[in-house]
Amino acid sequence: MRIDVVSIFGEYLQPLQLSLIGKAQRQGLIELRVHDLRDFTHDRHRTVDDTPYGGGAGLLMKPEPWGEALDAILADPPAGLSAEQAERGPVLLVPSPVGEVFRQERAHALAEEPWLVFACGRYEGIDARVVEHYASRIRVQEVSLGDYVLNGGEVAVLVVVEAVARLLPGVVGNAASLAEESHAAEHDGLLEHPAYTKPASWRGLDVPAVLAGGHHGQVARWRRDEALRRTARRRPDVVAALPESATDAADRAV
Ligand code: ADE
Repeated sequence: MRIDVVSIFGEYLQPLQLSLIGKAQRQGLIELRVHDLRDFTHDRHRTVDDTPYGGGAGLLMKPEPWGEALDAILADPPAGLSAEQAERGPVLLVPSPVGEVFRQERAHALAEEPWLVFACGRYEGIDARVVEHYASRIRVQEVSLGDYVLNGGEVAVLVVVEAVARLLPGVVGNAASLAEESHAAEHDGLLEHPAYTKPASWRGLDVPAVLAGGHHGQVARWRRDEALRRTARRRPDVVAALPESATDAADRAV
């Protein structure tokens, strides 16, 4: 997967050199290219921002450097795309508090793509014509991490890249673990059950006996019940959205 990120704070992306994502880059599973938006300005001060039409507090990012930066990236596609993939182009992701909330489903969909481009806004965001223009040429998705405001898109890029990259074959050592975590479709998007390791007793707290009992069916039932209870308590929205087919009579008894 090729990932291009345009930012005025490229150093923010340094953590992607660490751990599993760093290793995936060294193995050639991911090619990350970070571009400085200021390299696409032409004035002495390398200006990327200006005041908003209509007034208001704060500054907006000017469209021209974005146009030049994104055009340059689009003109340099990754090698080895099929004709169809080349025609479709990348997905342009624009982190923003006005985007759709980023969820595991979208992470899975993006993990199927060969090429992602991220545009990191700062200040009060990017001139709205940038998204409008590129949406007429390629697929554009504005994505939000949640209902709060960050200072820019870089932290969201760290989050989205990590969530997507770990789904690529070979990035996480034990692929089976991906099916057993919170939000996995295999478990109907429920939160994961509590988990324990040794010792069996710690500070007066014992591991639930069923987990040490060696009875596979009972362990599975206990985990399912705990996942349902935890999800109902913490994320009633997730339980409310469960289709009838996702639960059986034993589930509904919980
Ligand atoms: N940029 C600013 N706030 C954001 C948010 N909540 N999610 C993604 N990008 C953002």
